[in-house]
Amino acid sequence: MPQTKTILRALAGETLPTPPIWMMRQAGRYLPEYKATRAQAGDFLSLCYNPELAAEVTLQPIRRYGFDAAILFADILLLPQALGADLWFVTGEGPRLSTITDQAGLDRLGPVEDIDATLSPVYETVKILSRELPAETALIGFAGAPWTVATYMIAGRGTPDQGPAHRLKDENRPVFEALLDRITEGTIHYLSRQIEAGAEVVKIFDSWAGSLQGDDFAKYAVEPARRITAALKDRHPGIPVIAFPRGAGDKYEGLHAAIGADCIALDDGVTPGWAAAHVQTGGCVQGNLASRHMVTGGDDLVRETRAVVDAFRGGPHIFNLGHGITPDADPANVQLMIDTVRGA
Ligand code: CP3
Repeated sequence: MPQTKTILRALAGETLPTPPIWMMRQAGRYLPEYKATRAQAGDFLSLCYNPELAAEVTLQPIRRYGFDAAILFADILLLPQALGADLWFVTGEGPRLSTITDQAGLDRLGPVEDIDATLSPVYETVKILSRELPAETALIGFAGAPWTVATYMIAGRGTPDQGPAHRLKDENRPVFEALLDRITEGTIHYLSRQIEAGAEVVKIFDSWAGSLQGDDFAKYAVEPARRITAALKDRHPGIPVIAFPRGAGDKYEGLHAAIGADCIALDDGVTPGWAAAHVQTGGCVQGNLASRHMVTGGDDLVRETRAVVDAFRGGPHIFNLGHGITPDADPANVQLMIDTVRGA
């Protein structure tokens, strides 16, 4: 059967007259209906582990806006929790985890095969979504990239410069590399289960890839993503993979081939013109309107949205923001962006 979902066509390399569109964090606190369901669930993690409510918040932006893809509602930090780290969220501050700073910390983690005991509600959410999504809407599963996940597992929280993770890497490389390996194996298993449950695309979020310099970028951002992509394609032939090494800058060039990904997601630190000439030549790209336009709106939003669409018109492109939408965004600006993309 020919592929009709537009995102899957773009991921297969097709240049479409209108780019398919979805948005990072499209289910989130800028939407009143999300806040209502989140209040019903209690805290954020209870929402992530409640299949009916997690499916509901995933569907909310699809109903409101008709995006071309839905992204599973979950979090990249569920995997460390399933591996045995303690995890909780402090309202208004962000995630907290038990820290891993040495071999003893690593030894406290459980085996990769055990993660399903914690993560099975997430697979159930995927199953509900594959039944309930409109026929034209693709379902994206996801996980964090090993480096980004490790930065939280090592520091026990988000950090401005990922300092603790860099220190462990530089001072105790065997433990650092063993941790990255464990996360890599866990991620392959986790994404594989999401695909078996019905995810049609998977995305690997490497939010802190930009802090890896020199050889470290190749070893700890590119290589784990390559390993995950190769293992998934081996187990699930044809599964499209989107890699998002945020902040890669000029290292975005050549990444389709280096990772083996079908699509490279771009943050807004690179200009669409540069990325069309240096990254889109390697395959489909996703991005990269600055999220602040969802707050500020107006003529700037329309002009910049058109500029992104025009720059990437010559090849396969999925329209998205350069990072997640923020809680202070105006839902009306999202509609204006979509109308501009579809009317451009
Ligand atoms: O994109 C989506 O709509 C799907 C769901 C999704 C969430 N987190 C839900 C979420 C996805 C794909 C993520 C990925 C994620 N989580 C990343 C990588 C992408 C990125 O943003 O760089 C990271 C680094 C995390 C870890 C994380 N989760 C942090 C640092 C925080 C706190 C910061 C914040 O925005 O509050 C979260 C919480 C989180 N994850 C929320 C949502 C909707 C907000 C929680 C709430 O409702 O209170």
